[in-house]
Amino acid sequence: MTDEKVIVMNMGTLDSRVHSEKPVFCLGIESSCDETSAAIVDSDRNILAHIIYSQIPEHQKYGGVVPELAARAHILAIDQVIEQTLQMSGKSLDDIDVIAATAGPGLIGGVLVGWMAATGIAQATNKPLVAVNHLEGHALVPRLKSTLADGTAGDVAVQFPYLLMLASGGHCQILLVHGVGQYEMIGQTLDDSAGEAFDKVAKMLGLGYPGGPIVDKRAKDGDRTAFKFPRPLCDKPGCDFSFSGIKTAARTFLDKNQKPLTDKYINDFCASFQAAVVDYITNRLGNALNDNRVKAAGPKTLVVAGGVAKNSEIRAAMENLAHKNNMVFAAPPMNLCTDNGAMIAWAGLENFRIGNVVKTPIAPRPRWPLTEL
Ligand code: KG4
Ligand code: ZN
Repeated sequence: MTDEKVIVMNMGTLDSRVHSEKPVFCLGIESSCDETSAAIVDSDRNILAHIIYSQIPEHQKYGGVVPELAARAHILAIDQVIEQTLQMSGKSLDDIDVIAATAGPGLIGGVLVGWMAATGIAQATNKPLVAVNHLEGHALVPRLKSTLADGTAGDVAVQFPYLLMLASGGHCQILLVHGVGQYEMIGQTLDDSAGEAFDKVAKMLGLGYPGGPIVDKRAKDGDRTAFKFPRPLCDKPGCDFSFSGIKTAARTFLDKNQKPLTDKYINDFCASFQAAVVDYITNRLGNALNDNRVKAAGPKTLVVAGGVAKNSEIRAAMENLAHKNNMVFAAPPMNLCTDNGAMIAWAGLENFRIGNVVKTPIAPRPRWPLTEL
């Protein structure tokens, strides 16, 4: 993947209006899974400060996130994470115009911690509060200016509407993003998410948690044709996903094999599994591009977001697909793919600009589809 073709962020339709006003600063808080994170962003799409406290080491010995441990770890970390973020930005709470936090979907114990912290700050300082849908954070973060891994600024604009592959640990959806708060579901998984499939296959191989990055790394040294994983639904029209067949195939291959597994076996297994996921995503996105709703909207940009967007092969395949369809490919930099406070701060700021602030107290939602905003 060549970096100059990757766009990281944009302003969109509100640019001209916002540029003529004084900058707006938003403090955003994320706590829906195993990262306690806070960030301050401004309306010029800059990240002023960003702290991500990852709990992954605490959950690793259990092979996955333990909700009760996560909630407790969020409680212990949240004050310090917010305080350090403010310090890093050189701003005080007086300089902040709006407070935002994830209000769902996610593990409710963790969501409550961040949401109550944000509510407390907003009430004590009499500032507006935005309830951010975590998925909208992933969906809008490609519009935030940031820095690519090679240190170059991503300053080419991603305009609405865009076609989004949202692939995380909890979700796998193809969405047409018409604007802030305007999402049209084109396809979604009927069972597991893509991230769950990576995590489960890694667990079967005894590779640890989270599985995605480990499988991605192992796949680089493997033979992608060694195992014939199925590509479920690929012979059928439509844009939905199902990962259960791929998982069952993984189990069956492993049951037939003698233990212990060799390094070569694991690398080939990871490469073959990842190849199936990549083909699958490409097939479903190909169908999405031919969907009448998508054709009518005419998105010019193909975007990938969510933790699985870190996957090197998925990024490369989507970039290829975009160029074949005369589209531009956009992907957030690696640290903004997995859960982070900057995406929540940015989604909070975008919602604030259209007046979408909390007017009466709300209860956080463990389930909250993007189509119900
Ligand atoms: O977006 P995220 O941080 O959390 C949710 O909102 O669910 O995504 C976490 C998921 C995990 O399943 C993890 O295995 C996966 O993203 N992931 C990857 C890679 N890096 C993280 N999957 C495939 N390849 C990667 N390089
Ligand atoms: Zn997420």
